[in-house]
Amino acid sequence: MNRRSFLERSATVASAFAAGITLKPARGLLAQIAPAGNPLRFPAAFAGGMLAVEPRQLEIWPGRQTNVFAVNGSVPGPTIRVRKGADFEAHVMNMLSEPLVIHWHGILAPAHLDGHPRDSVAAGQSYMVKFPVNQRAGTYWYHSHTDLLTGKQAYLGVAGAFIVEDPAEAALGLPTGDHDVILIIADKRPDAGGQLPYAPTMMEIATGFLGEAVLVNGTPDAYLPVDQGLYRLRLINASNARVYKLGLSDERPFHLIANDAGLLPKPAQVTSFLLPPGGRAELLMNFTAYSQGTSVKLVSHPYAAPGGGGGHGGGSGGMIMGPVQGMELDVLRFDVDRSAQTVPLVPANLVAFTPHDAMQAKRTRAFTLGVSHLDKHQINGATFDAQRVDLTVPKGDLEIWEFKDTTNEFHPMHPHGAHFQVMERSGTPVIPPEDTGWKDTVLVGANETVKVLIKFESYEGIFVNHCHNLEHEDDGMMQNLEIKSDAVVEPSGPSLAIEHMGNMLHLSWPMSAEGYQLQSRSSLDHMSEWQPVTQVPEMIGDRMVLVIEGNSPAHFYRLARL
Ligand code: C2O
Ligand code: CU
Ligand code: CU
Repeated sequence: MNRRSFLERSATVASAFAAGITLKPARGLLAQIAPAGNPLRFPAAFAGGMLAVEPRQLEIWPGRQTNVFAVNGSVPGPTIRVRKGADFEAHVMNMLSEPLVIHWHGILAPAHLDGHPRDSVAAGQSYMVKFPVNQRAGTYWYHSHTDLLTGKQAYLGVAGAFIVEDPAEAALGLPTGDHDVILIIADKRPDAGGQLPYAPTMMEIATGFLGEAVLVNGTPDAYLPVDQGLYRLRLINASNARVYKLGLSDERPFHLIANDAGLLPKPAQVTSFLLPPGGRAELLMNFTAYSQGTSVKLVSHPYAAPGGGGGHGGGSGGMIMGPVQGMELDVLRFDVDRSAQTVPLVPANLVAFTPHDAMQAKRTRAFTLGVSHLDKHQINGATFDAQRVDLTVPKGDLEIWEFKDTTNEFHPMHPHGAHFQVMERSGTPVIPPEDTGWKDTVLVGANETVKVLIKFESYEGIFVNHCHNLEHEDDGMMQNLEIKSDAVVEPSGPSLAIEHMGNMLHLSWPMSAEGYQLQSRSSLDHMSEWQPVTQVPEMIGDRMVLVIEGNSPAHFYRLARL
């Protein structure tokens, strides 16, 4: 504890005594002993108006100034809270010296406000966001989604919580106020000077960029004083690549009550669960059994991680170079320091929903997660190009999406524009509690196949589907999908290759692609229509090639079957 907070605490105790308030002995005692670590910080509530992203120096590690990208002056950014049915409105200001766009993860937003990588604004520019929030209560979040810069910007702090509230949830009597705690978890790798250099190597792109300093709400070595009551913990994994196996240090069970997109039908009792980057979980944690003056930690238990073939710190018999996936980590220490006034019960039932019926699925789509011969991350053999539309999905059709890993790494897959349900994992419909309920990010394990049931019901337009390992995402494990009401489902077309050469675009496709037409449109909004590209391509070898001069980044291209 530094001198200032020590003085503050002493002052609090002194004035409490002066005011004649009796403190319980345990609390009085604790107030005089400096607990190790740093008290958990809490970002401010977003009061509307500006979300200004700017370079800042913040004291993350006591006594050090760290260069970060703050949102309204803090890391994480302010907590957005919206009641279901209300509008969300913000003025996003880019005060960085690079492009920026913010995505509202798990929030169903119109395509042009969803934070598509192609929609970033230049340094010094700003944009307005306004749309109605019409979805289940839950713990959602926001973060940078800038083309090729998502990993860096999110790592430096462009992220925050986005909470949606609704009457169904309010009726449950879950813990509120200071017993409803948001925990934004992100691992960092500070250098000796407390800075956060971000320059992943090839190996770190393969595994993802991992750190061993776990920050909770931007707090290293965080602790939270709690009473002996029941707490609602809302966990957001804002890490670039780390998958946590969360549980208590004493392995005591607790209840999982919500996954990514809202409450489960019933609480599930667990002792640990996996939380991949991008994912959220809500827990009910009961501290009744702990006596005052004791502590228990939320930890990431060790587990056998994929990618044994190398990567950062991997390799059999090789030197351990740094933090690895699956290592044991402390996340947050709870100091039980007082009795609870009342302890609400864990409700037997939460919020029911009708599960999708796989029998009603109109089709199955396969998404093969792989790498190219140059080790670029791909989906279905293609590396992301922000200007190429890879697939069209009819709005309102139930589909089975099958994610299949071939890379022997983790891939937390996250389509924008819809929530889904996990149907099977590794060929079995028996799925762990963290895969139940409504999801928007699903962990695909090494060489695993995961099937989900998904239906895009909200907005038409162009959205992305990507891996939420942010190094994989920036490396190209992402695709553009178009949601369209009257879409004719085309078999996946032959791949359109796009090369960017300065202000020129080289488009090429196999000559064998007969019956396909090159089309373009001028924005991701559904108001813009696909038009055939009239410029005549050249035949070079076995490919058709078209060079577009004066490329407009707002234009999208696709090959469509006529
Ligand atoms: Cu949280 Cu497209 O991501
Ligand atoms: Cu998202
Ligand atoms: Cu991945």
